Amino acid sequence: MKISVVNGANLNLVGKREPKYYGSETLDTINQEIKAKADVLGVEVDFFQSNIEGEIINFIHNSNNTDCGGIILNAGAFTHYSYAIHDAITSVDIPVVEVHLSNIHKREEFRHKSVLSDACVGLVTGFGKYSYIMALEYLAAAKST
Ligand code: DQA
Repeated sequence: MKISVVNGANLNLVGKREPKYYGSETLDTINQEIKAKADVLGVEVDFFQSNIEGEIINFIHNSNNTDCGGIILNAGAFTHYSYAIHDAITSVDIPVVEVHLSNIHKREEFRHKSVLSDACVGLVTGFGKYSYIMALEYLAAAKST
C-alpha cells in the first residue's frame, strides 16, 4: 500500500517562508522524515507538490484505482477556497487526511475556514511536521485493520 503526501501552494518555500508559522526545515527535510517514519511503519510513500490547483486535482484523480491507500493533503491557501479540490476529494475512493503545519484556527480569520475538511476523514493542524507524521500513522493503521 502506498500513501501520497501532497503539498499545495507555496509549500515549496517552507524553511524560508514565515518560519514563525512554518519552522525552518525545508519541505525536502520534512519529506525525508516522513519517509523514515513510513519505513518504520512498513508503508510506501510518495511526494507531490504543486502551486497549481489543477495539478493537485489531476494528482488526486490519477491516484484513484491505483495502489494509493491514502492521501495526506496540505493544500496551503487552496484550503480556504478551492471547491474544485473539495470536489476532487469527493470524486475518488481514497481516504484523504487534511494537514497543516500551523494551527489555522489561531491565525487570521480567513484561515479559520477550510472548505476541504468535510470531504476529508480528519484534520491535523498546528503540529508542524508532526501533523504529517500523525496523519501517516492513522492511514497506515487504518489500512492494516
Ligand atoms: C498552511 C496554512 C494555510 O493557511 C496557508 O495558506 C499555507 C500553509 C499550513 O500548513 O499551516 O500555505 O496550509
